[in-house]
Parts: sequence; C-alpha cells; structure tokens
Amino acid sequence: MPKAPSDDAALRAYLAVAAAGGDEVAASRAAAEAVAADPWRVVEEAGALARAKIRRAPKDGALSRALRLRAPHLSGVKVSQGQPIPTLDPERRKALGAWDTPRSMARRLVGLLAGQDGGLHGPSLDPACGAGALLLAQAERGGGGPLIGEDVHAAALAVAQVALPQAQLRQRDGLAEPSAIDEEPPAILLINPPFVRAEAQDKATRAALVRRLPWLIGRWDLSIPFLILALSRVRRGGLAAMVLPSPALAQPYGLPLRQRLLAEHGLITLTDFEGFTGAGASVALGLARAHAPHDGPCWAEGPKATALLGLHGAPIHPKIRAGDPELAARARRSGQVLGDLFEIDTGVVAHGPGGGKAALLSDEPGQGRVPYVDAQDLKVGRVRYLWYAPERMHRAKRPALFLGPKLLIQRITPPGQVLVSLDEGDTFAGHTLNVLRPRAGACLDGVTALEALGRVQRLLRHPLTPGLLRLERGPRLDLYPHDLAAIPLPPGWLRASDDGDLGAAYGLSPAEVARLVSFGSP
Ligand SMILES: C[S@@+](CC[C@H](N)C(=O)[O-])C[C@H]1O[C@@H](n2cnc3c(N)ncnc32)[C@H](O)[C@@H]1O
Repeated sequence: MPKAPSDDAALRAYLAVAAAGGDEVAASRAAAEAVAADPWRVVEEAGALARAKIRRAPKDGALSRALRLRAPHLSGVKVSQGQPIPTLDPERRKALGAWDTPRSMARRLVGLLAGQDGGLHGPSLDPACGAGALLLAQAERGGGGPLIGEDVHAAALAVAQVALPQAQLRQRDGLAEPSAIDEEPPAILLINPPFVRAEAQDKATRAALVRRLPWLIGRWDLSIPFLILALSRVRRGGLAAMVLPSPALAQPYGLPLRQRLLAEHGLITLTDFEGFTGAGASVALGLARAHAPHDGPCWAEGPKATALLGLHGAPIHPKIRAGDPELAARARRSGQVLGDLFEIDTGVVAHGPGGGKAALLSDEPGQGRVPYVDAQDLKVGRVRYLWYAPERMHRAKRPALFLGPKLLIQRITPPGQVLVSLDEGDTFAGHTLNVLRPRAGACLDGVTALEALGRVQRLLRHPLTPGLLRLERGPRLDLYPHDLAAIPLPPGWLRASDDGDLGAAYGLSPAEVARLVSFGSP
C-alpha cells in the first residue's frame, strides 16, 4: 500500500520548489501534488500555502504549518536564514477576501441542493473558486455534471486543479464585463463571494465599478456586485447555493442585492448565521432559484418575498417568521412618522484636515467655545467644550441645529435600549449622536416643544422601537437619521399622558409587542 504523505509533505514540497527558484504558483502546485491522494488535504493545506508569498527567511528556525517561523529547537520544518519560505500575506488576503470555506460548511452548502429538482445535474460554476472547496464538496456528491471554476488568484487555481483534475478552471475576474466565455449558462452556482470592505478596496477600481454598476450604493463591500453579477449568469430556474455575509443581508448598502434576491430570483432556503473565521463577519447559507421569483416562504416558517420587500430595508434574516412583517405594517397604520414633525441630523465631526479632536475640544469652558457632548460623554454624564471652527472641521453642520431643546440620540446602538437624552440647553453634539428637534412651524398636537420631545424620548426608549427598527431594517447597529425619521408616531402620542402604552397606541396585543421587542433585544 502506498504510504500516506507525512503531515508536512505539502510544506516540504513547497520549500523544495521555492529553493529551486520556483514562484508561488509552481510551489503551490508542487505542495498540492505532494498530498494529491487526499483532495481535501490539497484544498486545505496547499490552499493555505497558495495564499502565502515567498520571502527569504530572516533567521534560522522551524517553520510551522501555520507558517510561523519559530525557534529552531521547536517543532516544524527546519529552514535556514536566507532560504525562500512561504510567509503569510494578510494584506493581499484582505484585498481579495480570500477566506476559504471550511470543509464542513462547504458540505452543508452543497447539501442544501440535495432534494431540489435539478440540484445534482448540469454544469456547476464557482466564479470565486479559490482552492476549490465548494467544487470538491459538489464533486463528492457525485452529480457528474461539468465543474467550472474561476478565480483571479493563479496559485489558488493551480491547487484547485490538482484537487479536481476533472474540473475546467480558468483565471477570470468575476467583476469583469460578461464575455463570450459564458457560452452556456450554468445550472448550478456555488459561491462564497469575496468579502472585501470598502476601505480595503482599490479606490480606482471601486470608482470604475460604481460608474459601470450605478445601482451600487453606500459603502458596499465587494460581495454585493460579485453576487449580483454571478446570479445574473445562471440559467433561468437554475440553483444558486450561496455563502452570504451578514452585512449584505442587513446593511443599507446590501439593499440592491436583497431586492434582486427577493424580486428577481427566488430565495428558498436560509440558515441561521454562524461565525466565519478570518472574514470578520458572520454568514448564513442560502439557496435561490435564479430568475424564478416564487410565492412561497423564503425560508423555513419564513415570510414570502413580497412581505419582505414591503419592509423598508427588505431585510433577509432567518429570525423573521411569516406574520412578522404584518406587525410592522400595523404599527405603521397611522401614516405619520417622526420625520414629518422633527428635523433629524447627525452631529458635527469635531476634527478636520488640520488635526484631531484634541485641537478643538477642551474640558474647560472659554472664549469662542460651546458646550459639546458625544455618545461617550452622554454615557458618562460629562460635558466638554468645543471651539466651533467650521473651517477646521470635516462636517461642521449649522449651529442652529444645536440651539434650543432637542433630543440627542446615540448612533451606534447595541441591542437593547436606545440611549437618548433631552437637552434643554444649546449643547453641540458630536457625530456619534443624532440630533432631533421640532421642525419650524410643525403642528405638535397642541403641546410645547419640550413636552413633545419628552414624548418622543419615551417612544425611543421603549424596547418596542429598536425591535420594530431591526425587524424592518435588519439587525444592524447603526441608527441613521433616516432610520429615526421613519419611526411611526402613533395617533395622539404627543399629548398622551406619561403612562400611555405604546403597544396599545400602535394597536398591538401584548404578545405582538413581545414578538417585536424580541428583534431589538440582545
Ligand atoms: C471567500 S473566498 C472563496 C474561495 C472558495 N470558493 C472557497 O469557498 O473556499 C473568495 C475568493 O474570491 C477570489 N476573488 C477575489 N476577487 C476576485 C475577482 N475579482 N474575481 C474572481 N475571484 C476573485 C479570491 O481569490 C478567493 O479565492
């Protein structure tokens, strides 16, 4: 019987090729071939090496399989100073969103296809295949259809080709214009898209993509255009098995993806969220029929797509059950929202190109300084003083925003109660707070501005409010002015007595209130 390769066979093969002057692609291929008898070892061990770059060892040492260069007497493959060795390349990894899918998750993802009509047959495409985890999981299920993989990363592709000799792999940018290469639309899409936050993207490439894809909004991460473009390639009625990063399902910038998934494609399965090592976001696994909207639940016991599309942020979250969107609709029956009566904006950015906050903020009052609080100050009950110098600030706002009675509302609100404070003075607020004040000439139901603000404070502090917001707009932490502006104001709320019951004012039963509250609680 052939001997199984040693635990460090892939690393030793990589080092040998690197020592002979081979580049990352050649060394990664050699690593893969050294463990080719076990395709999962190829994907996992050689796949990890493929994400490394070759550098000269700074000293003698022992190289661990996690590519840490440790003291020579510790366990690992011995290397000498100056020898070419694989080293971690976190910057490139981040720029490519190259977080490979763990074996168990890859198997569960393709497992979602089981039992679906067409889940096994026809060509399967992974347009960001990396070292081939998803294609290998699909091959294991033995459907027999052609396996097609694409990626921009040549070394990862070289590894995938060893794990999957039968697959058709090619180097291709998944964000490029569609080309003649897509002769036959795939029947099955397998995808764990690159999750690359806005700040980690190349600015020029990002600007070019926005020009080409004008539906991109806000600080979108790369998974948004990637998923939308990939879905558009699948044949009508084909199946898409997707690893979906949580921000794409909750953040305002993910709206174009959510709307398409619900309105143009047919989401049929969504799992609970789970952690994903490295990527810095949790993920859910989803299954959709491409270009085939449907009228059934979008996930087990979930609502229909039309009900989700009726919610403001078209949220996609497995906690939402059929019937929940109707609760939000009931709370909205009065038709009036906070934004009708109140002006809402974020506070000043109290620093600018000339320097940080320290230059403008002081603990002491003084000539030209105004009282100032940010979210942290509110929490600890402190007031500071701001030298209000618009030319030195990124976002100075109008001073009038801060004059007179107003509410100061924390922008990043962890689950639980919203932090909100009534300010009767002329305190300026930092950008970690939202400011809410009556609009000039707004009809406040016959009560004073101060009384109305007290009632709105009560409404915002009620646990039902974050629950309603998170049901409608997704379970995210940021509370933007437009989120606050859209909060429904129950009829008569501004002049109701202090013990007025918000649930009853919205026309909801105690059980319905409890259900809504559960969306906002930890
Ligand atoms: C989250 S990983 C998934 C890899 C593999 N499918 C898996 O599940 O293990 C994302 C992959 O997208 C690739 N990638 C990043 N930008 C790309 C682009 N513009 N076109 C194609 N692939 C890209 C990365 O190299 C990486 O392999």
